[in-house]
Amino acid sequence: MQIQENISLKGYNTFGVDAHARFFSSFRNSDELSELLAAQHSRLPTLTLGGGSNILFTKDFDGLVIKNEIKGIEVVKQDEENIYIKAGAGENWHWFVLYCIENNWAGVENLSLIPGNVGASPMQNIGAYGVEIKEVFYELKAFHIHEKTNYTFASKDCEFGYRESIFKRRYKDQFVILNVTYKLCKKPTFNIKYEALEKELERMGIKELSIKNISQAVINIRSSKLPDPEKIGNAGSFFKNPSVAKGKYDQLKIEFPNMVGYENADGSVKLAAGWLIEQCGWKGYKEGDTGVHAKQALVLVNYNNAKGHEIFDLSERIVQSVQSKFGVTLEREVNII
Ligand code: FAD
Ligand code: EPU
Repeated sequence: MQIQENISLKGYNTFGVDAHARFFSSFRNSDELSELLAAQHSRLPTLTLGGGSNILFTKDFDGLVIKNEIKGIEVVKQDEENIYIKAGAGENWHWFVLYCIENNWAGVENLSLIPGNVGASPMQNIGAYGVEIKEVFYELKAFHIHEKTNYTFASKDCEFGYRESIFKRRYKDQFVILNVTYKLCKKPTFNIKYEALEKELERMGIKELSIKNISQAVINIRSSKLPDPEKIGNAGSFFKNPSVAKGKYDQLKIEFPNMVGYENADGSVKLAAGWLIEQCGWKGYKEGDTGVHAKQALVLVNYNNAKGHEIFDLSERIVQSVQSKFGVTLEREVNII
């Protein structure tokens, strides 16, 4: 375990932004992590990094970046219906999904091809195509950075919400997630209520559903509109889809009859941020090396050498234009450093 100094983070974030960490190290187990944080560097601000696919560095990080490389997947317990799988936080998420599909364990297939690692999956309760991680989450083990002890969090402790958890709010930067246990199904119930998914399965000519073909359909849709970070720097949706009161939605709908909205359980309406941004004329916008993806307006991109603060400035202008056209406030989904 080696602590390096003044390290470029360009290869450690999918935006491909060239910020530097004052100190950088990685750990493969909780002992290495304790050792790392016991060292004098632990008095500095600490940032845990997974795959770097939901982060924007707007400046250098004047502290210690620790890259989680805890591996391993094991079956913890099982019964007739369910199987409980524990995965190390440093396992690649999509690889884990494929492993579950190969073993015919259902529950994560709709979350295929989401970049990043297992450890970040509960951070923002990752979600896609009608499923969120909270639906298959069983528990996680996390190390408290200052108390230097391990805690176990059950689902109710995590305060999961839409792209939210306690780790993104109250316990921000306090815990390092070591492993996550998921409760998967041996007998799948398929979730194809997301319209685009249903349509893609139809287009593929699927007669009999399986977790494998649901995964393939999700991969097809994602590949058709989301930029591959290997080719164009990005962090997926830059903003969350905002919710507004039903009254506000009805009002907007009179002025903008094509506005896209989905009713939430509490009666409020979730608007499609991509639609709002596109209506403000940003889709496909390019300025220097920053821009808005031409196939998905919710995704900001780095075409080559954009600086983090340039991408942030562009996001600020998008927030302002959506606010002034629709009176709706966009909130960033990406973690800004
Ligand atoms: P990082 O970016 O490394 O970290 C994200 C945050 O979590 C940071 O605050 C970091 O400090 C913290 N963190 C990471 N690991 C740990 C740990 N072990 N312990 C404590 N804190 C930790 N997200 C979705 O929800 N749905 C999508 O459909 C989706 N699509 C995407 C598509 C593309 C092309 C891209 C680039 C991103 C997409 N994302 C999506 C966002 C991203 O993939 C997820 O948020 C993912 O879970 C981030 O994982 P990561 O390991 O890269 O996290
Ligand atoms: N839309 C537009 N213009 C655009 C983009 C979208 O009009 O440029 C409209 C679409 O036509 C559609 C609606 O917005 O009617 C929703 O679009 P889409 O199905 O592409 O999903 P999204 O709401 O833009 C969300 C998540 C994605 C997730 C997909 C699929 C958020 C912030 N984003 O995107 O998550 O993969 O649904 O479930 O909730 C991420 O978090 O990084 C991410 C990619």
